[in-house]
Amino acid sequence: MTIWQPSLSGRKGPKFRQISDAIGESVANGRLPRGARLPPQRDLAFALGVSLNTVSRAYADAVGRGFVRGEVGRGTYVRASGSLATEAPAAQLTRPSSGPIDFSVNLPAPGQAAAALARSLTALSEAKALSAFLDYQPPGGHGHRDRDRQRETAAQWLARTGLKTSPANIVLTAGAQHGIMVAFLATMRPGDVLLTEPLTYAPVKAMAHHLGLKLLPVEGDGGMLGPGALDATCQRAAAKVLYCLPTLHTPTTATLDADRRSAIAAVARKHGLTIVEDDVFGMLPPDRPPPLAAFAPERTIYVTSVSKSLAPGLRVGHIHAPPEKVRALRNAVSLSSWMPPPLMVEIAARWIEDGTADALNAFQREEAAARQTMARDLIPEDHLHADPHGFHVWLTLPPHWHADVFRMEAENRGVKIVTGGAFAARPSDSPNAVRLCLSHEITRARVREGLVAVAELLRSADGKGSMIL
Ligand SMILES: Cc1ncc(COP(=O)(O)O)c(C=O)c1O
Repeated sequence: MTIWQPSLSGRKGPKFRQISDAIGESVANGRLPRGARLPPQRDLAFALGVSLNTVSRAYADAVGRGFVRGEVGRGTYVRASGSLATEAPAAQLTRPSSGPIDFSVNLPAPGQAAAALARSLTALSEAKALSAFLDYQPPGGHGHRDRDRQRETAAQWLARTGLKTSPANIVLTAGAQHGIMVAFLATMRPGDVLLTEPLTYAPVKAMAHHLGLKLLPVEGDGGMLGPGALDATCQRAAAKVLYCLPTLHTPTTATLDADRRSAIAAVARKHGLTIVEDDVFGMLPPDRPPPLAAFAPERTIYVTSVSKSLAPGLRVGHIHAPPEKVRALRNAVSLSSWMPPPLMVEIAARWIEDGTADALNAFQREEAAARQTMARDLIPEDHLHADPHGFHVWLTLPPHWHADVFRMEAENRGVKIVTGGAFAARPSDSPNAVRLCLSHEITRARVREGLVAVAELLRSADGKGSMIL
């Protein structure tokens, strides 16, 4: 009989912790289903070539972290309730499991975060200094024990992307959306020029409008951000800030390679540009180029959040910034919200510290990969732009389909999608394409159903004569 055996390659830290991390991940992704018994310690020690003592410590650690429970004389089992893998996903997030299939929202797969939250709330209810989480927090938070620890933890979390940072460079926000707004507030005044990719995160267009900024897309390089096009744009316009999404860009799915990042950093330096780097999907690819902030540390405000890897409702985000920008960013946080909710920041910090965050992120990676495989199998490849680690795919449409008509027809068939126009920085440049977000739906079965419907539509001639003039 084959026993459950974790892969330890690529893991860091003491061996017992690596095994315990692997248990957490397998519970999170269902490889170890609820009620499953872990292999006898001696068997696992033999299979992994480690000492019995190491496995004993690993099992005790996994019990302590709530992944499994130990029963004296009977063995160690995945918890039947309250564990990462136990709750029906539908019960965890407010997403419908019937009705139209929603490919329009770019949220993580409904996962196992609710059980982790239950555990954290229980632990917090027993913590001594709860009143600290009910107070206003000092803006910088220096010298405040919890805030210092939370920023230290955040720095460790961001290091997983290849970013070297330290607590002094971290600003805590209420999510990435808030982080982007804070970065804009801290760096620009009405009338300033904000550069973006030709297709950009839709709320950034609204932010620019409300802040009185002039939005200027960097054209060229086939829609991908490129150093040549950036240089040319900076020559003709006195731009102050570039907002961009270099990793798993929405909607195109493109990830810029290290050479391109380095070249873009050089152009930004030449023109004195500040870069606002949105790395909200940054934890998803296991092997990715370092953030732009690593190439232009002196001028990049790096923005991310736990929304895509842990849970969007936590509303916890992280900014990493050069020291001279930190004060303005913290002021902008105070101005816009005083502070992110302290209790939520604490929960995120605990999840990062105890390995829950890694386990939840691993679940998202696995789920995204499975859903991307479905898209590759079902959607004709000449129309599909995708990354195996992304939440979304981008479909360029054949000329006989106009994107708006395609969207309406997809909706008639029970599938909600978003057209390229939603992302166009310049409305006249709307591409004839649509974005499908595959992670928002609760089950893979519904994702498959939606993809089959979209693929049929793509192949059908229904769109002929649909061009909107
Ligand atoms: C590209 C991009 N940036 C930022 C955000 C905002 O994320 P958060 O939930 O952390 O505010 C989103 C959310 O969908 C996003 O897709």
